[in-house]
Amino acid sequence: MRFEERLNNGARELLLDDVRHRISQTWSEIDHPRPTEPELTAETKSVLSTQLPEQGWGDRITLETASKILDQSLAQSRPRFLAYIGSSGLEIGAVADFLAASYDFNLAIDSKAASLLEQQTARWLGQFVGYRNAEGLFTSGGTVSNLTALAAARQQVDPDARKLGNSKKLTVYCSVESHYSNTRAVELLGLGSNSMRDIGVDDRRRMRADLLRAQIQEDIAAGFTPMAIIATAGTTLTGAVDPLNKIADIADEFGIWLHVDGAYGAPAAGTATGAPLFEGIDRAHSVTIDAHKWMFVPKACSVLLVKDLSVLQSTFGHDEAYMPHDTQAANPVDLTLEYSRPLRALKLWMALAAFGAEGFRDALEGNLDLAQYCYSNASKRSNFRVLENPPQLSVVPIQLQHADPTKTSQLNQLLTEAVVQDGRFFLSEAQIDGETWLRPCFTNFRTTREDVDDLFLVLEEVAKGINL
Ligand SMILES: Cc1ncc(COP(=O)(O)O)c(C=O)c1O
Repeated sequence: MRFEERLNNGARELLLDDVRHRISQTWSEIDHPRPTEPELTAETKSVLSTQLPEQGWGDRITLETASKILDQSLAQSRPRFLAYIGSSGLEIGAVADFLAASYDFNLAIDSKAASLLEQQTARWLGQFVGYRNAEGLFTSGGTVSNLTALAAARQQVDPDARKLGNSKKLTVYCSVESHYSNTRAVELLGLGSNSMRDIGVDDRRRMRADLLRAQIQEDIAAGFTPMAIIATAGTTLTGAVDPLNKIADIADEFGIWLHVDGAYGAPAAGTATGAPLFEGIDRAHSVTIDAHKWMFVPKACSVLLVKDLSVLQSTFGHDEAYMPHDTQAANPVDLTLEYSRPLRALKLWMALAAFGAEGFRDALEGNLDLAQYCYSNASKRSNFRVLENPPQLSVVPIQLQHADPTKTSQLNQLLTEAVVQDGRFFLSEAQIDGETWLRPCFTNFRTTREDVDDLFLVLEEVAKGINL
């Protein structure tokens, strides 16, 4: 088919009719667990190994083929996908992506209403989590948001680094359980990962403020310049929230940039149950929140919140002949690492507008409740072990015990593989203090208490098939 043909023969309308039907079917199927995951068929593998077609297949066959491929792929928004940090793919977010892609904005330049919408969405999110007077911008994920924040932090302590390279011995502080994306950012900024100071955690796996303070003092005495403290508000491993107020006191005392990596956990700050854990978030210089994790919208939708966008302008601003710089208003490209940037904010804006803060609070409270339910369910079973303290957010490590404790780790590793093979649930494992645990994580509004009950039934049933 030639490109211009799609305009004259009604092909576009047919394509839209067809896609509407397919998407509606997909969403209704995703609402419910499926008894098993469909196999990746030989036919699909064969389609996916063909050469580039010289003659196109046409819209309809292409759409049908793509639908089959997608159905045989791993969709994270299914209610029994409890691995890693899943997502929900909220419908209005998917619609927003379709709309935004139809207009194909580029937020490298000031895109009028679309740019205002991005700014408003950042303010709304700041309001939701208690980060007042927030400004911000959208990135492709927590990894890029954290990198952006650390680049801004470096700009404050070593303003000539953009031109001359790092001129100081800089250090960055985070808990031993912080996300690897922070180390990656430090590597990319040329500090070297040895400049990361991994601070020990307490019995609830939160960064210990006393150790942080001692490490900073030791480093300053040794001639290092502290560049940033990264507090994690919801660790990936267990959902621990570092003590933000205590850490902010130390950041204030030594004049260090405080970044909160709330990629996963920060949305819980908007709930009555979660808010006390996040006291002090408002004192951070920057906060990462991945809306594609626990604000339920599809990927990619991360937000970096700051108190003052001008810090990003000094970090990323430039003056090139091919970008208009003749007005007072900054081009968004001067605030970001990325050049071409889609309107990722629309999905969060539409979701927040449609459900309101109340709708989000309700869904988040539902997940927090599921986590407590899962923890107490496991605690009541003599064959399961849980961590000493109940979950702070929605990650609930559990471990099936083997009669021979030296085999427990291996049992849980085999169990994870067997459950994934079984297909009724999707779980991932985690290494905690050198042992293998199962790590269900609840970030989907579709998951119910019945799903949690069934999880234990399925785990016990599948475990019977493991000979160890
Ligand atoms: C705490 C934390 N920070 C950062 C990231 C990285 O986010 P992304 O995968 O969106 O780049 C993750 C991902 O799980 C995370 O849990």
